[in-house]
Amino acid sequence: MIESTIEEALKRKYPEQVVLAVCISRDGIPNIITLGWAMSTSIQPPMCAISIGHPRYSHKLLLDTGEFALCFPSVEQKDAVIYCGTYSGRDYNKFKETGLLQIPSKYIKPPLIADSVAAFECRVSGTLETGDHTIFAGEILTAYISERKIKRLYNFGEFFSGIPDFNPDNK
Ligand SMILES: Cc1cc2nc3c(=O)[nH]c(=O)nc-3n(C[C@H](O)[C@H](O)[C@H](O)COP(=O)(O)O)c2cc1C
Repeated sequence: MIESTIEEALKRKYPEQVVLAVCISRDGIPNIITLGWAMSTSIQPPMCAISIGHPRYSHKLLLDTGEFALCFPSVEQKDAVIYCGTYSGRDYNKFKETGLLQIPSKYIKPPLIADSVAAFECRVSGTLETGDHTIFAGEILTAYISERKIKRLYNFGEFFSGIPDFNPDNK
């Protein structure tokens, strides 16, 4: 091994997962953000965490309303994933612009994204400041899976794609 810059070494992390988080404003307008930095953090109670940059509109929404839907996008949602990771909800209504459809959640105000591979309703239970991002830890209140067999989208650095012939259910 040779010593490198942190930036160069981090380029070797791909493929990285990509998720969509739906947050909501105090007046009930939902917004979608594309995230790479998300993970499960606890089995009992079921919990997850997402890391959001301070300037993001979603950062403000999470501080304001404290709930998010975490959705695993499918390969069919590639263009929407790029859109939601490029434009801010301060300037655009991302549901309208991408054509992604909303499904009402059961326990939280932000809606789920229709045709996700899987989705989780989450309530923020704590935050951790980590440099220029905040980690929002959320308790998972309930979860959903697609009844269709659709492939999850991944970020390969230079492009987004599914992983060929990967079947986590062994079916
Ligand atoms: C593939 C990808 C992964 C991203 N991951 C993150 C992330 O983990 N955390 C973050 O704060 N922003 C991330 N971003 C950037 C935000 O999605 C982007 O700044 C977005 O426009 C913010 O939207 P908002 O202002 O409506 O919240 C990512 C963008 C892309 C394309």
